Amino acid sequence: MEKNILKIGIIGLGTVGTGVVKALRQFKNIEIVECAVKNLNKKREVEVNKLTNDPMEIASNPEIDVVVEVAGGVNPCLEVLKTAINNKKHIVTANKELLAKYGDELFELANKNNVSILYEAAVAGGIPIIGPVKTTLRGNEFKKVMGILNGTTNYILTKMESDNLSYEECLKQAQELGYAETDPTNDVMGYDTMYKISILANIVFRKQIDYSEIYVEGITKITSEDIKCADELGYKIKLLGLAQKIEENASLDIRVHPVLVSKENTISKIDKATNTVYLEGYPVGEVMFTGPGAGEAPTASSVIGDILAIANEISLTDTILPSQRVKTEEKAVQENILNTKNSYYMALSAKNIRGVIGVIGSICASNNINLQSIIQRGIAKDNTAFIVVITDTTLEADIQNAIKELISKDIKVKNLIRVI
Ligand code: HSE
Repeated sequence: MEKNILKIGIIGLGTVGTGVVKALRQFKNIEIVECAVKNLNKKREVEVNKLTNDPMEIASNPEIDVVVEVAGGVNPCLEVLKTAINNKKHIVTANKELLAKYGDELFELANKNNVSILYEAAVAGGIPIIGPVKTTLRGNEFKKVMGILNGTTNYILTKMESDNLSYEECLKQAQELGYAETDPTNDVMGYDTMYKISILANIVFRKQIDYSEIYVEGITKITSEDIKCADELGYKIKLLGLAQKIEENASLDIRVHPVLVSKENTISKIDKATNTVYLEGYPVGEVMFTGPGAGEAPTASSVIGDILAIANEISLTDTILPSQRVKTEEKAVQENILNTKNSYYMALSAKNIRGVIGVIGSICASNNINLQSIIQRGIAKDNTAFIVVITDTTLEADIQNAIKELISKDIKVKNLIRVI
């Protein structure tokens, strides 16, 4: 670093990249040498010294100390960041997909090259969570990490509840407001949350996580009826990413799916695009971090925090931020969802015939399922009954067997949602 000026190259000048350029204007010790973009002719909100459409140019530019990657996706970012690391550049990235899929390889390469990869912006946008888990909370033995890690889906679920609208109507609103992308698959199918919980589980439990073994369900099957029934029973529906230690066999139960959260639980009160991360461990007990999970300025806050952390140390030491580096050699044993235990909300539709509730009850009983609540609101015009049950804590495999039996008796299972 010359004259205490940290020289950076930025890959991606979309929403987050633009926010980073704006937020860095006040820091005279950071110089943006060059930015890589897809389209050189696009009109931009911010001006930068030099634009290129070749991100490899940034990875190989000898003037650059730190590569800031806010482009997203695996290609070409994986090869670009590997080249940058081999060229001894520190990395700041917001790329959750890349880290969830190739983090182990990138962290190992970074350790070999004595450079740091910082990624506070990759999980829950503006909420500081990666840094605190790796530093101030490091002395804890964690049991659980879970949270609302996707603003788009939380916005949709909140609107379905408050405005009594369908999933499709709320998705359209979220797209109009710029929360949801034109192709919302990553958010609504739960993949974005899967990448984030995989990254969190890696640092919280210090084990390598195989993201492809994480059970994932999105929010596309949630209906207004589910939201109303949940409300009546004292719950809200949230999409959660969850990772917890199963003490008996030291495995990790990691999953992403909608959850009925009791209205008494603070997580149920996290509305719209806000994110939250809850941690349970010893000696800290329970802690929750809440704030803006996406957006130009909040995400830029996390990115520039990481850039400044490097700037603060680069002229002082040869080993920058060792406490922030990731070194996990052991692979986690990841539990199959069928072996997990949960309480369940089951929405059923059955023909209006005598004894049908009895049939449901005996199928549940023969599969070790104890019922906690049951709602039936009259009979629909097509002579079917809509029945909702909440079970006691039950093995997932038992619930899945019961579902097969219910279907064989002509009872439709419209939805199954886990309850916390
Ligand atoms: N699309 C994400 C969200 C933000 O809606 O929270 C980036 O991961």
